[in-house]
Order: sequence, then structure tokens, then C-alpha cells
Amino acid sequence: MQKIYIAGGQPLKGTVRISGAKNAALAIISAALLASEPVILDNIPNITDVRILLDIVTKLGAKVAYQDETTVEISTPDCIDTNTPYQEVKKLRASNLLLGSLLARFHRAEIALPGGCNIGSRPMDLHIKGLQALGASINLEHGFIKGTCKRLTGSKVYLDFPSVGATENIMVAAALAEGQTILENVAKEPEIVDLANFLNSMGAKIRGAGTDVIKIEGVSQLGGGRYSVIPDRIEAGTFMVAAAATRGDLLIDHVIPTHIEPLIAKLREANVNVSEEDDAVRVIGTDELKPIDIKTLPYPGFPTDMQSQMMAMLTSVKGTSVIVENVFENRLQVADEFKRMGARIKVESRTAIIQGVNKLQGAQVKASDLRAGAALIIAGLIAEGETEICNTHYIDRGYENIEEKLVSVGARIRRA
Ligand code: UD1
Repeated sequence: MQKIYIAGGQPLKGTVRISGAKNAALAIISAALLASEPVILDNIPNITDVRILLDIVTKLGAKVAYQDETTVEISTPDCIDTNTPYQEVKKLRASNLLLGSLLARFHRAEIALPGGCNIGSRPMDLHIKGLQALGASINLEHGFIKGTCKRLTGSKVYLDFPSVGATENIMVAAALAEGQTILENVAKEPEIVDLANFLNSMGAKIRGAGTDVIKIEGVSQLGGGRYSVIPDRIEAGTFMVAAAATRGDLLIDHVIPTHIEPLIAKLREANVNVSEEDDAVRVIGTDELKPIDIKTLPYPGFPTDMQSQMMAMLTSVKGTSVIVENVFENRLQVADEFKRMGARIKVESRTAIIQGVNKLQGAQVKASDLRAGAALIIAGLIAEGETEICNTHYIDRGYENIEEKLVSVGARIRRA
């Protein structure tokens, strides 16, 4: 089993370039199956989640060809397999994003129910409700979501919660439905806007992505094209927090600063010096970091995907910080690993109360999910002595070349 070893205590200094956004790439690759002509996607991150999804769509019958490390061409014939088995979905929950595209273009889909995962129960009721409103017949049989339809028809759908995945699945399905779909109370994450822009570049008619209401005029087919995925705001955020926590000075390049506003605001509140450029942010950590309170919320609220990394930083900020996790119920688990490193954290239900200590101590810890893994790296970077992280496969799901990038800005980190 691979492990990551970190010798803490080095401030991060220099420039780091951010890769394409995992969550946008996964949604866009799934939606690429709608296209009747080849699609070329640029700025695709080289991470495990993307490789698994490309493997799944290949098994279904799409042709996938890498043109270079970050550019992929996908061609999907008119007839493909529409059954995504449990073995595949188990490896990648986001393969549930294939439901909307398979139903819309091929009128059938069988996707294994993903079940629970480390960060929470993650149901799919909102995805199903929306697709049913568009006319799909959906049943749960033997652990599978089985959907069939004739051509989907536009409808009005109100989401009880602005779920990212449900918004994506329903928007993708509605792109090929007959007539108009109005989606209300939708997710507004930048990845939703990127997906809508991608679909529109292939001929879809989608307006309002990024606001609470998305209107879609269905078209009968989508062409191909070339599209570049947005930079990963969570990878950028992870490096920003690592710079602040190590009291470093990092230029984080190839980002869209407006996508990281909620994090920038919180870092400034914690007395971190953040300056924004056109497509970069510079983060300078100070010795007088201040404790802060954070509540995770759907965008433009503070992202749940940055919560664990912020907790890592706050473990050694003098005073009391409070984090409330409103999106995924199990995401405060990482606190137990920080406690092994000497952190003082009390978790009650969805709230973590963090009493900053002088210094964390290196320890053996394990990642329980992707962002917890990133947070443990940050904790290792600020700890005294060596930290050993196991379950590194979680980290590789969403961070491209993380050790190389960290080493290039002064971290002492290696994998063995
Ligand atoms: C996506 C992101 C993930 C991020 C999350 C929230 C991808 C591949 N993953 O996950 O990184 O942390 O958004 O920003 O893009 N819910 C329901 N019923 C549903 C769907 C969701 O109750 O049908 C609940 C979930 O249990 C959770 C909340 O809604 O409590 C948010 O989930 P959602 O926005 O759907 O997250 P994902 O799309 O799974």
C-alpha cells in the first residue's frame, strides 16, 4: 500500500499551476455522450476519477482517444450499452451522472445505486424526481435505477435542495427533451455553468445557469465541437490554504478568482493576505492568523469541499474557531485524525469547535475521503516531525501530481 510521508515545517513558496476542474470534467464527459459527432475536451485533469469515468464510457461503447495528457476526444455511436454495473459505480459515485445523458439520447439507462459513502448517505431522490417529471419511467430493481423513456418532454422541476448532481443530470436530460424545461432552486456552482456552456457549444439552448432558475429549450440532437474545462477551484483552494497554513507565499496560477470568492473572504477574515490578478491569486500567510467561524453551504456559500482543509489550518490558529458542516453529515470525521496529531477539536453533530494549539505533531494518519486526504497533507506540512498518510488512493481521485506540485514550491513530501 502506498503512503505519503511529509516532513513538516517548510513554508510553501513559488508558483503552482492549477489543473482542470474534476467536478466539471466528470459532468462534461458524461454529457459528451449526447453528441452525435466527436467532441474534443481540453484541460481534462489527469486524475483517477476521470480515468475511471473514461473507462466506463469506453466499456459502454464510446470511443475515447487521448490526444495529449489533458486533451481527450470522445465519439459516441448511435447505439451503445446503457448498463453501468455496480462494480463500476462503486469505484466512482459520479458515474450516476450518466443517467441523464443515457436516458436523453438512448432512452434507456441502468445505473447501480451508489449506496452510502464516507462523507454521507448521498441519496438520488432529486435526480429521479426530476427525470420522472421529464417523462422517464424509473424503477429501483435489485439495487439498480432502471430508466426508460420515449423522447423526454420538457417540464417544470423544483429541486427541494440545490443538489449539484441532480441539477446536472436533469439539465443534461432536458437538453434533448421536446419543448421547454424550467428548473427551479438549482445549484449555482461554477461547474454547472461550465456544463451549460459546454452543452450550448454543441447546440443546446440553455439559459440562466449560475442563477436559481435554468431554462432549457430542448433540441433534437447535439453536434460535436471542442471545449476547454474550467480550472479546479478546489485544487486552487487547497493550495491557497496550504500557503496560508505554512505561513508561505504562493502564486496560484491558472484560476478564475471569482470562483474562489467565498474562500478568499474567509481567508482574509483569518488575516491571510490574498491578492487577486486576472487569472491568478497570491496568498501570503502571516504569523498572526485569527480564528474564524465557517458554515458550509451550496455555492456561493462556503464550499463543503474546502471545509476539511480549513479545519487543518485552524488547528494551529490561536483561539476558538467553529465549523458547521451543512452539506454532508460525515465530513467532520477528519477531526479524529487531526486529534492524533495533537489538535484540540470537539465535534458535536454537524459542528466542530477547534481550539488552536501551538503546533501539530507528525503522526500516522489515514485519509477517509478525498478532501480529508488533502487536509491531512496540509496538517502534515505544518506539523513538527514526520506525518505518514495512508489511503492515498483517495487523494489521487482528485489531485493531479500533488506531490510534484508541492515539492516544486518547497514541501518535503514523498510517496513510498
Ligand atoms: C457534488 C460534488 C462534490 C461536492 C458536492 C457539494 C461532483 C462529482 N461532486 O457532489 O464534490 O462536495 O457536489 O458541493 O460534482 N441530496 C439529496 N438528494 C439527491 C441528491 C443530493 O438529498 O437526490 C443531498 C446530499 O445527500 C447532500 C446534498 O444534497 O446532503 C448535496 O449533494 P449534491 O449537491 O447532490 O452533491 P453531489 O452532486 O453528490
